[in-house]
Amino acid sequence: MADVKRVCCIGAGYVGGPTCAIIASKCPDITVTVVDLSQARINEWNSDKLPIFEPGLDDLVKQCRGKNLFFSTEIEKGIKEADLIFISVNTPTKNYGIGKGRAADLKYIESAARKIAEVAVSSKIVVEKSTVPVKAAESIAHILQANHRRGVHYQVLSNPEFLAEGTAVKDLMYPDRVLIGGELSEEGNRAIMALSNIYQHWVPKDNIITMNTWSSELSKLTANAFLAQRISSINAISAVCEATGADVSEVAHAIGTDSRIGPKFLQASVGFGGSCFQKDVLNLVYLCECLNLPDVAVYWQTVIEMNEFQKRRFARRVIEALFNTVTNKRIAIFGFAFKKDTGDTRESPSIYICKYLMDEQAKLAIYDPKVDHEQMISDLTHPSISDNPTRVQELVTLTKDPYEAARSAHAIVICTEWDEFKDYDYQKIYDSMLKPAFIFDGRMILDHKQLQKIGYHVETIGKRL
Ligand code: NAD
Ligand code: UGA
Repeated sequence: MADVKRVCCIGAGYVGGPTCAIIASKCPDITVTVVDLSQARINEWNSDKLPIFEPGLDDLVKQCRGKNLFFSTEIEKGIKEADLIFISVNTPTKNYGIGKGRAADLKYIESAARKIAEVAVSSKIVVEKSTVPVKAAESIAHILQANHRRGVHYQVLSNPEFLAEGTAVKDLMYPDRVLIGGELSEEGNRAIMALSNIYQHWVPKDNIITMNTWSSELSKLTANAFLAQRISSINAISAVCEATGADVSEVAHAIGTDSRIGPKFLQASVGFGGSCFQKDVLNLVYLCECLNLPDVAVYWQTVIEMNEFQKRRFARRVIEALFNTVTNKRIAIFGFAFKKDTGDTRESPSIYICKYLMDEQAKLAIYDPKVDHEQMISDLTHPSISDNPTRVQELVTLTKDPYEAARSAHAIVICTEWDEFKDYDYQKIYDSMLKPAFIFDGRMILDHKQLQKIGYHVETIGKRL
């Protein structure tokens, strides 16, 4: 099995698509097929407008598609032909039954495993790439072995993904490390080597870490929990800064120069978003509860609670500064994606800021350079955000022009750190706004002194201006 010639990836999402594009581009000797249940998604991968926006991804896909990179809904064929199969399906937080709101929903993982067992006629290495609770690989192996055909053998590996959206191509090209967990046996080692050989086409061997499957699975949840915890920690300090006159950027700089702490992920903000931090921390919380470790569960739960607090706190500051009423006031929202350089809005803090302002009957004019308007409406009319979709349509205006969004507005609220927001003509914007004109910089990206000189009332995170 050391010589993998055909790879199949089940799940053509934010992880499966970019990961396979890199493998195809770095391993011309390997044929990579990405399969998905969604015909619409596969059509987009095969079109000029890919289903996800990632800097550098278009070129990469164009370079390999149709040569050794294929996107298809022929799941069974993909599985049958492959030596190695990545499972890269979604593992959202469960919204029903036992563990509702906390546990990871593993139904997509299980159905992928069952599909492999059903159709495979030759031995396979099955690689769990999705983020899962500890012992999920064991369940996959169990399903495969209980249903295997004669002569068909499986090895199940854990190979969690650490890419971040917006920098996926760079992260995949130059990963800090690749993590592979496997069974501690001769066959397990052979499978680990086979996967490692793929990565060694472009990743230095020393950056490929191997370990037992459970450590690998737990390392992924732990990495995300630590990253989310850093943001919640600095956001907690931002509240102290606002109350005391300290400046959170200065505090972050001061602590970040300690080599034991380091400078990254200390950017205070409106709160973290994205499809994974909240889901994976909750996943860890649930795991701890199931392991009868309630104190550990409570410890990690506070990371989520601090994030909720930060989003609410920021929205409340906007309302307070606008003389405690935003009813019928036009407020321009700059940024709807959960971070810059992505069109992804999953768990975006912007959605929650909009919700809190809509609850107070503010009229929102929303602009984002990459998010589709249908997506914004779908997020804002989701039952967890609003129970009155008609009211949302009345309160929200979507625009493709930031200047238009700000015209006749009382305030601008920056929710995403898009670079282009720094380059606007804020004098022109000021002239078109109602006075006093407010800017709430939830990402600390603007030149506050300059804005004040123009005449804006400026508020930001973690600092009194
Ligand atoms: P996604 O929702 O973008 O994509 C998942 C895809 O899997 C969907 O297109 C869905 O149609 C498909 N799918 C589901 N069940 C299927 C099945 N049985 N057969 C075929 N296709 C199926 O999800 P994503 O963001 O790519 O995340 C995938 C996994 O990777 C998750 O576990 C996530 O936690 C993890 N992860 C995500 C990121 C990220 O940046 N998004 C980073 C690291 C890890
Ligand atoms: C995160 C991790 O960084 C990846 O390593 C991991 O693979 C991925 O989750 C996953 O498992 O899905 P991602 O969510 O794409 O990646 O993006 P991040 O850069 O981590 O940002 C997450 C959120 O935190 C964003 O809303 C961002 O604006 C916010 N953030 C980030 C801050 O508020 N402050 C910071 O200092 C850093």
